[in-house]
Amino acid sequence: MEENKFSGSADAIKKLEDELKGNYHALNELRQLNLLIEYYDEKLADKTIQLEKSNKELQKQTQRAEHLAKIGELASSLTHNLRNPLGVISSTVKIIEATSKDTLDEKTLSRLSQITDSTTNMSHQIEEVLNFVREKPLDMETISLSELFKSSINNIGTTERVTIHLPDNEILLECDPPKLEVIFMNLITNSIQAIENTGDIHIRTTEDSGTVTIEIEDSGPGIPSELLPKIFDSLFTTKAAGTGLGLAYCKSTVEQHNGTLTVKNNPTTFTIKFPTKS
Ligand SMILES: Nc1ncnc2c1ncn2[C@@H]1O[C@H](COP(=O)(O)OP(=O)(O)OP(=O)(O)O)[C@@H](O)[C@H]1O
Ligand SMILES: [Mg+2]
Repeated sequence: MEENKFSGSADAIKKLEDELKGNYHALNELRQLNLLIEYYDEKLADKTIQLEKSNKELQKQTQRAEHLAKIGELASSLTHNLRNPLGVISSTVKIIEATSKDTLDEKTLSRLSQITDSTTNMSHQIEEVLNFVREKPLDMETISLSELFKSSINNIGTTERVTIHLPDNEILLECDPPKLEVIFMNLITNSIQAIENTGDIHIRTTEDSGTVTIEIEDSGPGIPSELLPKIFDSLFTTKAAGTGLGLAYCKSTVEQHNGTLTVKNNPTTFTIKFPTKS
């Protein structure tokens, strides 16, 4: 603990006590005053420690923001430059497939399909980086959540091994729909990737007392507890082809809507809470 700020007053109090000897009422008041000084002194020391902690935390956050801004600038120009040549590669493959399908042998067709898979993978990474670094203000609109789930699943493309159970209630939410669509795509894709063989994803929505709650639960193996504090960090990934930007984007975009995004295991459930206007 810090040294008593009023410690210099201890001698003065001792002197006053000597002077007041015999005057019990004044002595009593003096002691009460001394106790009060000690009490506020301790409070002041506690507050100083708290302030120092917040200050360090703020410094860390500023450094992190500056670091992210630099990564953002770099990533933004790099990804823009990669987008065009990638588009040329995939459209050229499509043209070759469409015009020479009958003349190409199986092996060549399978290689062309490998090129398409790789370009899709690279496009995914580029889109993730661009989503993350684009800091567009919200463009609010009222939209049906079930419509948003349907379009998100449509964009991902379904897989037979995973069954997605959509909510049967209807909730209208004021939000930035394209941004929410990207959030749902990220969360559902993570769940599909986590489910090794077959499994289920349950999406639930509820609305009460000024809050809309969205839960995305999957039957995957869960997130190891030592990784739980890291999964929302940008660039954290356990996947070979992952960018580690998906959940970081989801969290910052939910927070841009003044909402919260949390996660729990058993079963793995990501919960989004949005405040609604009353
Ligand atoms: N539903 C889930 N079940 C288990 N682990 C998950 C789940 N969702 C996320 N994770 C873990 O969190 C990590 C970070 O997820 P995030 O979406 O940010 O990046 P990514 O999925 O690895 O990469 P990308 O989103 O670019 O494909 C994942 O690598 C994975 O380890
Ligand atoms: Mg992901």
